[in-house]
Amino acid sequence: MNKKFFKYFREYRWSNVFAMIKNNHRDPEKCTDRFDNKLVVITGATSGIGYLTAKKYASGGADLLCINRNPGKSKALKEEIEKEYGVNCDYIIADLSRLDDIYNAGQKLAGIKDNIDVLIHNAGIYLTKRALTEDKLEKSFVIHYLSSFIINFLLVDKLKAQEKARIIYVSSEAYRFAAWGLRLDDLNWEKRRYTGLKSYGSAKLAQVLSMLVFDEHFHDSGVKINAMHPGAVKTDTGKDNGRFYRWFKRNFLDRSLRPAGISAEALYYLGVSDDVKSVSGKFFNLTTEEEPAPPALDREVADELWQKSLEISGLINEN
Ligand SMILES: NC(=O)c1ccc[n+]([C@@H]2O[C@H](COP(=O)([O-])OP(=O)(O)OC[C@H]3O[C@@H](n4cnc5c(N)ncnc54)[C@H](OP(=O)(O)O)[C@@H]3O)[C@@H](O)[C@H]2O)c1
Repeated sequence: MNKKFFKYFREYRWSNVFAMIKNNHRDPEKCTDRFDNKLVVITGATSGIGYLTAKKYASGGADLLCINRNPGKSKALKEEIEKEYGVNCDYIIADLSRLDDIYNAGQKLAGIKDNIDVLIHNAGIYLTKRALTEDKLEKSFVIHYLSSFIINFLLVDKLKAQEKARIIYVSSEAYRFAAWGLRLDDLNWEKRRYTGLKSYGSAKLAQVLSMLVFDEHFHDSGVKINAMHPGAVKTDTGKDNGRFYRWFKRNFLDRSLRPAGISAEALYYLGVSDDVKSVSGKFFNLTTEEEPAPPALDREVADELWQKSLEISGLINEN
């Protein structure tokens, strides 16, 4: 059992859980402001939420820089968006499960002369079976969490110098599946039974914890960082799993899911609206702010995770 079990148990508040259940049925706030000539970076823009969010920002006049793993889909996206909306849509090819690709993408972003107005960490995967990356790290943890950590870390100086930027994590209420906290002693799932929901929840919890530390790094700088749950929406997520899972998703799960347009609407609001321009370090369910569950507020674990992430990613000497 996690040593934090009793601490978190005492801190859990049912009212927050009920609020989350209620919020799951709400629609997002809408923002109708234009975002002309701003630059928006989105990871995983070739499908689902990322794709619709790219289109939403392009329809508001923003230029896009997408970080995708698939060259063919990226080219098609660029052609579609540039033709339809008359904005620029460039891309960087990076497999965000590979440390070298993540590092290269982060360095390229850090070298851009233009301001990055909004950075959306969206790329994600849902795996029912444990998989390791080429760097021998658990895949879900790397794609959801470590990639966003490394990219943010490499961008701290640039974004601070810009004096204005918004970073948004496409997180998930599923961080609650890591109900008894992050197991920093077993990030690779070697000591416990792996389940898709628990590993996904842990990776999303890591995102929210790192947001707390980045928020402090950006304090007083004009850079705002928040995390959001994009709704339970119908997308291609889970496509990397076996036939049975995909059948189950198509025939059962998908029926209860909402259209992914609500996620794009919420991400536009959080990136553009003046209503949230000063908000940082918060978790939103679509566009409703929520008090996170106790494991997602644990500063001690957030600091340990930060240190561990620097070590794993080889950034320790750049701290
Ligand atoms: N759908 C939901 O109900 C829901 C709920 C909560 C949170 N979320 C989160 O929302 C985000 C988007 O998911 P989605 O539902 O839109 O799923 P999706 O349709 O499967 O889209 C995922 C995107 O991430 C990209 N991606 C996956 N692995 C990658 C890698 N190794 N390197 C670079 N890009 C990679 C995919 O690229 P390809 O096109 O090449 O596959 C795709 O563009 C995820 O972070 C997910 O956890 C979704």
